[in-house]
Amino acid sequence: MHPMVNIAIRAARSAGNVIKRSSDRIDTLNITEKSKNDFVSEVDQQAEREIIRTISKAYPDHSILAEESGAHQGNDYQWVIDPLDGTTNFLRGFPQYSVSIAMKYRGKLEHAVVYDPMREEIFSATRGQGAQLNDRRIRVSSRKDLDGALLGTGIPFRDDQDLDSYLPTLKVLIQGTAGVRRAGSAALDLAYVAAGRLDGFWEYGLREWDMAAGCLLIQEAGGILSDTDGSSNYLSSGNVVTGNDKIHQEMLTRIKSCK
Ligand code: IPD
Ligand code: CA
Ligand code: CA
Repeated sequence: MHPMVNIAIRAARSAGNVIKRSSDRIDTLNITEKSKNDFVSEVDQQAEREIIRTISKAYPDHSILAEESGAHQGNDYQWVIDPLDGTTNFLRGFPQYSVSIAMKYRGKLEHAVVYDPMREEIFSATRGQGAQLNDRRIRVSSRKDLDGALLGTGIPFRDDQDLDSYLPTLKVLIQGTAGVRRAGSAALDLAYVAAGRLDGFWEYGLREWDMAAGCLLIQEAGGILSDTDGSSNYLSSGNVVTGNDKIHQEMLTRIKSCK
């Protein structure tokens, strides 16, 4: 395993410990609303500090982009961090959330770790070297079409999101499938696509820290990712469609039919 993945796992585990320790005292937490229905708690902030402390100790010159504290300038290596993806779930005791850490070198994704502290699952990848769940190699599903597929999505909930352009995509993508899940942690949804637990996933309006690690996991697990218009701008636009090549193509065709 690459030394940077080891550091990312160490950082994710120490954030996970903060999250687990706090999960039985949710009532006592300090919570702020960043925008309507978009929350941040002292746990998000503490978990982020743990991650940054671990990474900066090993790599003091690296840059960091972290959800809660923003950009920390450094050299061409940049860590992209979501310390707690699925805060709303966490604050409700709904046990589906994760820690997401990606490393980019000169803008290109090199390493990824998504950690589910409740299930002790570590999804990891290094560019060109495949993706793992704990120590087992993972691949995207081999399903040939959307018939019987299980899909994941993120249903818009913030005021700045366009529900009207999303809802038709939900309608066309449900048809013929085994159903659609809205689990509440985009990083984990993407990791589930990489592991073949979900056949495909789409969401609009994600931020880089929600997606960066999950996207590399999928690439390394043999999956395809694109923006909803088919382009490769998904990391900057935040709009993503993904699955194996056949599922991705069929999802894209159906999404485009909504326009
Ligand atoms: C959120 C989760 C959610 C997605 C939202 C994200 P947060 O991240 O990934 O699944 O639908 O767009 O903001 O705020 O819990 O880190
Ligand atoms: Ca997030
Ligand atoms: Ca977060």
